[in-house]
Parts: sequence; structure tokens; C-alpha cells
Amino acid sequence: MVILSGDDVRRALPMRDAIEAMRTALARLSAGECTVPERAHVDAPEHAGVALVMPSYVPAEERMAIKVITLYDCNPDRGLPRIQAVVLLFDATNGSPLAMMDGATLTAIRTGAGSGVATDALARPDARHAAIFGAGHQARTQLEAICCVRPIASASVYDPEAAAAERFAREMTEKLGIAVTAARTPSTALDGADIVCTATVSHTPVFSDADVHPGMHINAIGSYKPHVQELPAATVARAHVVVDFRDGALSEPGDLLIPMAQGLCGPEHIRAEVGEILLGRKPGRTSSDQITLYKSVGVAVQDLAAASAAVSRAIAMGIGQSVRL
Ligand SMILES: NC(=O)c1ccc[n+]([C@@H]2O[C@H](COP(=O)([O-])OP(=O)(O)OC[C@H]3O[C@@H](n4cnc5c(N)ncnc54)[C@H](O)[C@@H]3O)[C@@H](O)[C@H]2O)c1
Repeated sequence: MVILSGDDVRRALPMRDAIEAMRTALARLSAGECTVPERAHVDAPEHAGVALVMPSYVPAEERMAIKVITLYDCNPDRGLPRIQAVVLLFDATNGSPLAMMDGATLTAIRTGAGSGVATDALARPDARHAAIFGAGHQARTQLEAICCVRPIASASVYDPEAAAAERFAREMTEKLGIAVTAARTPSTALDGADIVCTATVSHTPVFSDADVHPGMHINAIGSYKPHVQELPAATVARAHVVVDFRDGALSEPGDLLIPMAQGLCGPEHIRAEVGEILLGRKPGRTSSDQITLYKSVGVAVQDLAAASAAVSRAIAMGIGQSVRL
């Protein structure tokens, strides 16, 4: 089998290729062509940690995959990454293991790519300014992905850790060739924003509903626990809501579950899975004034599709290490 490090995955899976892989994967998911068992949460409360076990099978790819991802909230304070993960990819025709790779890098790329697909389906075509909440790992690939699908000329980033926001602004200005600046407040970050990404570990809304303008598109990827909200309930209630995977969206994120529990909206407020829009079964944005929201908790077929694309390209490029088990 092939072993890919994080650097190998990054070289083998440029964001534009990842976005194309996610279009196919999310459409297949909504077409009912994938097997995606509910992911298992294994809590380690003594250590403020959780492991998520995420299996999937995509017959059209002839691949099975499983990701084990750990999220440890105290890790950044001890110099370790909050998210660590391994993805295993199998040949579904005979069950043979094909590859093992760094799942943290793969997760950041495929989560960004999912938002790239949703942004392409939902944001106004003339969107030029982005606001990014959070200056961590996911935030970087969120901004990279939206720059692939819209003519983004500038971005603001807000993070309560001002030094992290400044570092993000410097790095992303250089990497993407656009003007990225650190905002001092959530409100200034949203000023003039056409596309907003929330990629934080906050448990409470990261901006105020009063700062949300008509026509904005929001990608919210941070919250995946029922008590955790990145978005004001009022924003969710007035937005056209699209999700990656209905089953996950209705069982995990406080961003949707809390407004539903407050009676502000019901499950029918989820207008579509993004794959249904790709399949032409549901509309995307229907007016330039509409506030559109893509809420993602992540789904295992994204890992399978990203891993499969990375491995094919890595083999073609001679990247990675081959081992006999
Ligand atoms: N939807 C998905 O598929 C998916 C995939 C991976 C990670 N995630 C989630 O995304 C979130 C971010 O992950 P990461 O790897 O980037 O973490 P990270 O630790 O690298 O970065 C998180 C950043 O959020 C910042 N933050 C905290 N409160 C904030 C606030 N109120 N406003 C703005 N920024 C704030 C922190 O200071 C930190 O810089 C996590 O909750 C993770 O579980 C979702």
C-alpha cells in the first residue's frame, strides 16, 4: 500500500482538483449512490477529546474508506494540533488496502473544497470581498477554495487571537496574491463582505445578525455538536439553508438544532443538500438579495473522494512511500 504524508497529500491534491472531486462526491451522495453509516463519536471527557470514526463506500469509485479523526481542544496549548487523523483507502472489489494518509491535511483540503462547491452553487457571481472568521487550519483552505470559484480581490479575517489573524493575513496575502487584512472586530470584518466563512472553535455566535447584509453567502463549517453555535439563530432563520448531508445536519450542529429548538424554524428550513442543487433537483440562489447559508458538518464520502483523487495522482507523480504489510 501507499503511504502519504501531509506534504504528499498537499502536492497530490491541489484545491481546484479537490473541488472537482467534491462536486462528483456530493452529487453521488444526494443521488443515494453511496453507503455512509452514521459516524461514531468516541468521547474522552477526561482529556477534552473526541474521536470520530467515519466509514464510507462509493460503488462508482470501487473504493471504501475509513477516517479516524481526533479533536482535542487542549492540544493547541501543548503545542499539538487540535485535529489529527488517518485515512485508510481500500479497493472495494477485493477488500485490499490501497493507501494510508495524513487525514488532517486531507480534512482541511476536502472541507475547503466542499465550501468551494457550495460557494459556486450559491454565492453571487460578482462576489469580490470575503470575511473569514477563525485564523486556523480550516480557515486557510476555506479562503483558498472560495478564491477558486469567485473573483475574490480582498478578504478580512477576524480571530480573537490577534496575532493569529495577523499571521493568517500575511501568509494568505502571499499565497493567494490578494489583499488579506486582519479585522479588529467581527463587525468590521463583515463590512462589505459578499462571502463569509466561519471556521472557528467558538461555542457562541461569532458575529451579530445586525451585521449580515442582503445578498451575502455564508459557509459555516465549525459547529458539529448540538450545544455549539457559530451563527446567530436569527441569521439562520432568515437564510436560504443548504447542507452537505441532511442526516448529519439534523443530528449534530447547534447552528441548526438550536434555532429549531427555539421554534424559529423546522427541519423543512433545510432547503437542499448541495448535491441536490448540483443534480438540478433543487434551486440554488434565486435572487441577488437572498442570504444563502451552507452549513457543513463534514461527511465521510468527502474523505473517500479526496483520498481516492490524492492517491491516483500521487501514484502518477511518483509521490509517497510504498510498503508491503
Ligand atoms: N465541517 C467540517 O467538515 C469540518 C472539518 C474539520 C474541522 N471542522 C471544525 O472546524 C473548526 C475549526 O477547526 P481548525 O482545524 O481550523 O481549528 P484551529 O484550532 O486550527 O482554529 C480555530 C480558530 O478559531 C478561533 N476562534 C475561536 N473563537 C473565535 C471567534 N469567536 N471568532 C473568530 N475566531 C475564533 C481560534 O482562536 C482559532 O484560531 C473546529 O470546530 C472543527 O471541529 C469542521
